[in-house]
Amino acid sequence: MSTPTLDKDSAAADAAETGASHLITVTFRIRRFNPEISEDASWEDFQLQIDPKERVLDALHKIKWELDGSLTFRRSCAHGICGSDAMRINGRNRLACKTLIKDINPEKPITVEAIKGLTVLKDLVVDMEPFFQAYRDVMPFLITTGNEPTRERRQSAEDRERFDDTTKCILCAACTSSCPVFWNDGQYFGPAAIVNAHRFIFDSRDEGGEQRLEILNDKDGVWRCRTTFNCTDACPRGIEVTKAIQEVKRALITRRF
Ligand code: SF4
Ligand code: FES
Repeated sequence: MSTPTLDKDSAAADAAETGASHLITVTFRIRRFNPEISEDASWEDFQLQIDPKERVLDALHKIKWELDGSLTFRRSCAHGICGSDAMRINGRNRLACKTLIKDINPEKPITVEAIKGLTVLKDLVVDMEPFFQAYRDVMPFLITTGNEPTRERRQSAEDRERFDDTTKCILCAACTSSCPVFWNDGQYFGPAAIVNAHRFIFDSRDEGGEQRLEILNDKDGVWRCRTTFNCTDACPRGIEVTKAIQEVKRALITRRF
């Protein structure tokens, strides 16, 4: 089968429109899967004339809109906020909307595939439900007792700082789906759920820390972490994921948080 290619006229028209002058030819090697067509996934190459300063998400849009409308992937904000377009790009979990083509060696075919450890539904789309179930299980909301406050719950700057890093999570699953423990056994809560538990365990206004620690003391909880640092490397928000997991482990031992 010939490689679908975006013709030069169309690329030149795009270039004229966008003012791009340095188009290069890039091959995107995409892992395709459509259960209505075949039980097996396979790689398909697409060639584009594209500005290397564009992002992988722009390339996927071009492929979908101009070469093959059946290509399926998730995205929403296109600016690193919604967390919906985590995928394995050249073998590493990244957000397609935050990955510039020039930064990932466009001289060679760029591989794009679904994140690992979650069931692939179609092409780059996985079933996120087990991931979100683990998130829900750690109760990612403020738990307090007593009357509703009539004014804000005050907190010192130092207390706020304690969990600042883990507030940045956008639930993209790049960490959890880069974790070898999660690949081998999807029952593990995974880094993202622990990060979101951390965000509340160390919040001085919250009263559900003990409950969350007990949930994570489970056989599928924090003790499954093997400290491989894959999660920290994968996180597009720069969250120190492994450190957060270590802090939760320490809190379980000392019961101080
Ligand atoms: S911790 Fe980082 S990699 Fe993991 S879900 Fe949150 S933002 Fe994504
Ligand atoms: S599309 Fe929203 S984070 Fe990439």
